[in-house]
Parts: sequence; structure tokens; C-alpha cells
Amino acid sequence: MVKLSDRLQRLADEVQAGETVADIGTDHGLLPIFLYENHIAAKVILCDINEGPLLKAKQNIEAYGAFGLTDLRLGDGLGPLEPAEVDTVIIAGMGGLLMAEILGADLPKSKSFAKLVLQPRNAPERLRRWLCGNGWQIRNESLVREGRYICEIITAAPGAEEQREAGQEAAGGLDYEISPLLFRKRDTLLIPFIEKKIKTEHEIIKNIEAGSGKADHGRIRLAEERLEALNGLLKKARETV
Ligand SMILES: C[S@@+](CC[C@H](N)C(=O)[O-])C[C@H]1O[C@@H](n2cnc3c(N)ncnc32)[C@H](O)[C@@H]1O
Repeated sequence: MVKLSDRLQRLADEVQAGETVADIGTDHGLLPIFLYENHIAAKVILCDINEGPLLKAKQNIEAYGAFGLTDLRLGDGLGPLEPAEVDTVIIAGMGGLLMAEILGADLPKSKSFAKLVLQPRNAPERLRRWLCGNGWQIRNESLVREGRYICEIITAAPGAEEQREAGQEAAGGLDYEISPLLFRKRDTLLIPFIEKKIKTEHEIIKNIEAGSGKADHGRIRLAEERLEALNGLLKKARETV
């Protein structure tokens, strides 16, 4: 039986028993193998834009004896899928902007899937903004550690954008970056997640000040504004989690 990393396990946890699933950019195929072996998904389609990863997935399917997984498709984004062919589309381990591009390539098709499970490697705030601006509602958020990173998992469904929390907007509009849902869920990684962002802003200021003498005052001002907002959110997180 395949043992998933915490990150892949958290993605798997977003799939409900009996759902049909497509894993876009499947690479190693371990998530589909887990969903199949544990009889979680009724059907899993493995998709990738490159042949090499699909070959790797095939080798893993054989190594784990998951011979029922036969639906491997080569293609870009959602291209290999028919509209509404599966309940849940998982896209993990790619950049947030690439995910938005994949979903935006054919909006009616993208919205024909009941659920998206997304784990952007970067630009998560831009992906969230894009999702909310293009007719998805963010239904769940969770954080999971992978090495020195804290990964963000976003579950979305077609629907109207959720009401933003006024307090979050007042705290510098960081709610696309630090989801209000993480506060509501009291996510145990919320405090280290915010602390990491605070550390990054301090480092940015330090690096600019230690630079050539031509200090980037605009970026320093932005970092200071962000620090104020982040410290407000950290205080709220400490009171909440
Ligand atoms: C870093 S791997 C992530 C693998 C796996 N999803 C995970 O989270 O562990 C990214 C995979 O996405 C595939 N990929 C990149 N762009 C793609 C696209 N536009 N459509 C489908 N697959 C894509 C790559 O070939 C690669 O196998």
C-alpha cells in the first residue's frame, strides 16, 4: 500500500468516498494510487502534459499493483477531460498562475466540475483572487508542512464569492493571502504561517537597508504596511487558535 506524504495525504482527505477524480499534472501518480487502493474514488483519471511523468505514474501503478488504474491521459490542463466527466479535479504542485491559466482556458468546462482541490506552489493569493473573481467559492483551506515549506490547500466549488470579513480587509486586505477560513478552522499551522511572512518582510527591509545605499523607500513602506497588517493578524491568530 502506498504511504503518502503529509501534503498528498491532505489532498486525498479532500476527496469524499465515491467521488470520481481527475489528477491534473499527476507526475508520480501516487495520489491516484492511494485513492484507488483505499477504495476512496470511484474512478481516477491521471493526466499530465508530459509523457515522462505518465510513464513514471505507470511504473508506480505496476509497482503498487494498482492495475485498475488504466485511464492515463496526455494533454494540457483540463484538455484531456470531457465536461463534467469527474466530480473533483485536483491540481497540485504547480504555480498558482499556471493553475489560473489552466482553469481559465475553458471556463464553462472548468465550472462543470463540482469541486477543485488546488495546491499552488506559489502565488496562492493571485489564484484565490482569480477564483473568487471568476465564479468560484472557496469552501475549505488548510495548511500542511512539507520540509521547510508550509503548503496551502484550497478547495473550491462553482458559486458566488464568499463575503469577505470586514476585519480582514481593514487589516490590509491580506485575506486573499491569509484566508479567513484558516481562522475559523483554527488551523494549527496558522501562527507559524503568519510568523514566516513576518520574518520575510523583516528580511526584505534588512536587505534593502544593507544594499547599495539607494534604498527602495517604496518597498520599505510596503513592507512596513504589511508588517502592521501581519502583526494584527498574528495577534488575532494567537487569540483564536
Ligand atoms: C511538480 S509536479 C507535481 C506532481 C503532483 N501533482 C504533486 O503535487 O506531487 C508538476 C507536474 O505537472 C505537470 N504539468 C505542468 N504543466 C501542466 C499542464 N499545463 N497540464 C498538465 N500537467 C502539467 C508536469 O509535467 C509535472 O508532472
